[in-house]
Amino acid sequence: MRLLIVGTLEGYITAAGKIALQKGAKVAHTDSIGGALNALRGGQGADLVMIDVKLDVGMLIEALKTERITVPVVACGVATDAQAAVKAIRAGAKEYIPLPPDAQLIAAVLEAVAEESHAIVSRDPSMGGVLRLADQIAPSDASVLITGESGTGKELMARYIHRKSRRANAVFVSVNCAAIPENLLESELFGHEKGAFTGAVARRVGKFEEANGGTLLLDEISEMDIRLQAKLLRAIQEREIDRVGGTQPVKVDIRVLATSNRFLEEEVRAGRFREDLFFRLNVVNLALPPLRERPADIAVLSQHFAAKYSEANGLPERTVGPEALAMLQGHRWRGNVRELENTMHRAVLLSRGTEIGTDAILLTGAEPAAPAPGYSAVAPVAARATAVAQPQTAAGDPGASGTAGLVGRSVADVERDLIIDTLSHCLGNRTHAANILGISIRTLRNKLKQYSDEGVAVPPPAGGELDRAAM
Ligand SMILES: Nc1ncnc2c1ncn2[C@@H]1O[C@H](COP(=O)(O)OP(=O)(O)OP(=O)(O)O)[C@@H](O)[C@H]1O
Ligand SMILES: [Mg+2]
Repeated sequence: MRLLIVGTLEGYITAAGKIALQKGAKVAHTDSIGGALNALRGGQGADLVMIDVKLDVGMLIEALKTERITVPVVACGVATDAQAAVKAIRAGAKEYIPLPPDAQLIAAVLEAVAEESHAIVSRDPSMGGVLRLADQIAPSDASVLITGESGTGKELMARYIHRKSRRANAVFVSVNCAAIPENLLESELFGHEKGAFTGAVARRVGKFEEANGGTLLLDEISEMDIRLQAKLLRAIQEREIDRVGGTQPVKVDIRVLATSNRFLEEEVRAGRFREDLFFRLNVVNLALPPLRERPADIAVLSQHFAAKYSEANGLPERTVGPEALAMLQGHRWRGNVRELENTMHRAVLLSRGTEIGTDAILLTGAEPAAPAPGYSAVAPVAARATAVAQPQTAAGDPGASGTAGLVGRSVADVERDLIIDTLSHCLGNRTHAANILGISIRTLRNKLKQYSDEGVAVPPPAGGELDRAAM
């Protein structure tokens, strides 16, 4: 949670900032509305803005709206200034926090904001069962393994469990085991001592220590190297870790959650995942059903995303029309909720009226939808997704050197098409594709994840392949 404090808060900034920091927020400060806008424009994002009521709260909220910057604003001022408080709320502030700052109140506001952006939207009975189980086990300190296809909401579920746990007011730290290079992961998890290796100029505290008192999410745990798994097992079992180059074990008090979109049992059978670690993590298994198996969720989620992206783009709220909904419910959603989210974001931008019709729904992947009329002229994001669904080859000019057809395109662009094309030729087999491309499976996976996050259709893994996404 990143908090931006604007103004002097009657001299209570340090106190308010300190409380927020203790609650796990990252705090930045600026004196003026101009400074706040600059920080937000410059990519220094915030999840919450706390502004002094002495400043023109309405002006900030208006400016944010005009510039399409979506961030909740809460106002702060001395408790006696009721007039200013009412004015701030009327101007669109979400809350009013009286000064001097009260620790519980700030914690509650931070939590409410976090909850809003990480809410699980669901109505399907199959998810209802999973949520009930999650509610039941959240307060315990048991390790939980959250499984499901890519994009089903595993990380969201991990945050949900943390919020409902006794550790809710402590930190939630997440480590993506697939994204961090193998040789750096140990240091990332356990930290290192000064001088542990060339370049270790100071002691560094790892994620286990950072998460002390709170929850540690080991995201995509199946990607962890088997040697490191042994150290992880010890850390979880003994509740103590060894920093790289350290001589003294360090005690940690954490709850461990892990996610995987691979069949861990199969990884165990193949000798790639330690069985003892699997049992340690799998005290409780929350299996998120694929989106195609929760039809009622498709309806509520598509409307949820339509509203979310209408607001984010400063458009009047779009609703999902009945034909569009039928189309959405017939799709396979290999990319699950993430794919639906991207589809609805596009639909909001493409839709001509406030009701989203089928022409605004561009589905990519195995079952391509009929292209929307004039789709080549629409917003770049949709055009790109369509282009990737039917990858262009560089063979446009057979007589040329082979790269002539590529001139004018960026390396990243060509690389993406090459990877997706090769993968399609290999019928989705990651291992074969990585061999042909001359890159590691890990690199390939990371790239594919990035592409699918960007809304690009990625060929699904071949059946029975070790890299299978389904479970
Ligand atoms: N039930 C839900 N309600 C609202 N948003 C959801 C829901 N499920 C998933 N999302 C959204 O879909 C996206 C993907 O969710 P998340 O990152 O949790 O999935 P994941 O299973 O961890 O995916 P991956 O395996 O690719 O890491 C996120 O933007 C998330 O906010
Ligand atoms: Mg994830």
